[in-house]
Amino acid sequence: ESGGTSVQRPPLLSIGGVPLVKYFAENWGEVENFQARPDDLLISTYPKSGTTWISEVVDLIFHQGDVEKARRNPIYLRVPFLEFAVPDVPTGTELLRKMPPPRFIKTHLPVQLMPESFWTQGCKMIYVARNAKDVAVSYYFFYQMAKVHPDPGTWDEFLEKYIAGDISYGPWFDHVKGWWDKRHEQRMLYLFYEDMKEDPRREVRKVMEFLERPLDEQVLEKIVHHTSFKEMSQNQMANYKTIPTAVMDHDISPFMRKGITGDWKNYFTVAQNEHFDAEYERQMKGTDLCFRTEI
Ligand code: A3P
Repeated sequence: ESGGTSVQRPPLLSIGGVPLVKYFAENWGEVENFQARPDDLLISTYPKSGTTWISEVVDLIFHQGDVEKARRNPIYLRVPFLEFAVPDVPTGTELLRKMPPPRFIKTHLPVQLMPESFWTQGCKMIYVARNAKDVAVSYYFFYQMAKVHPDPGTWDEFLEKYIAGDISYGPWFDHVKGWWDKRHEQRMLYLFYEDMKEDPRREVRKVMEFLERPLDEQVLEKIVHHTSFKEMSQNQMANYKTIPTAVMDHDISPFMRKGITGDWKNYFTVAQNEHFDAEYERQMKGTDLCFRTEI
């Protein structure tokens, strides 16, 4: 089906002060009232922080490293996106209502917008955070290729909007801090993209332990291999190439773009970097949450 052909880069719409993709905001009632179950697993991230990567890892852990099972469906059907909505395509909440438990649920919502039931049901949650500079660059390219977003303008214009939080899902700063501050109140594993790049074996093992799904070393190796950037970028069930071009245009920029830490150095000018660092310090003052911008 040629769903989503009418996507036209509409301006963002604010929900509770957070700018969201217009179609997502228009479906907000469904999201707000979503009923989580205690056996749901929530995967939460700020956009472009490794959501697809951790989703593939989780799915493989649940299926004991069975790569064929992980190819049963595209990632966006295996791990439905809670607040997702675009014209002519099933929404995230529709997919989730039909999904047999245990469900995996992806979200990019900041903590304050999460449907209440996730907190009260005590679901396990995995949060993945990525350093602000690499996210900015990745998001800039994603804005260009994913046409539910407004036009990002030039890199300099986009970076200013990013610093101001005037982009889909609002400020990165509030998002990473908000989830960080919740981590002890919930059954939450808070991971970092840079750690996953540095030592995927170690990080996948953490996820296994958190999910209480012990697997032997051979299976762990297999999962690490299958979830490498190289493998995932060639895997049609993970790389979003099955989405209609009218919604995501991989010729503009592939969803699986570079998959590295430190690419920001190729885009930030010295002046932009100094400005960003000053802003970063102001926004992150007083938190013990630390990021690495290179590994
Ligand atoms: P880049 O644009 O920097 O390449 P999300 O899934 O949250 O939208 O994040 C997408 C980012 O994660 C993209 O970053 C993408 O290339 C990267 N990515 C996806 N799978 C990856 C993997 N297996 N290993 C490393 N990076 C991955």
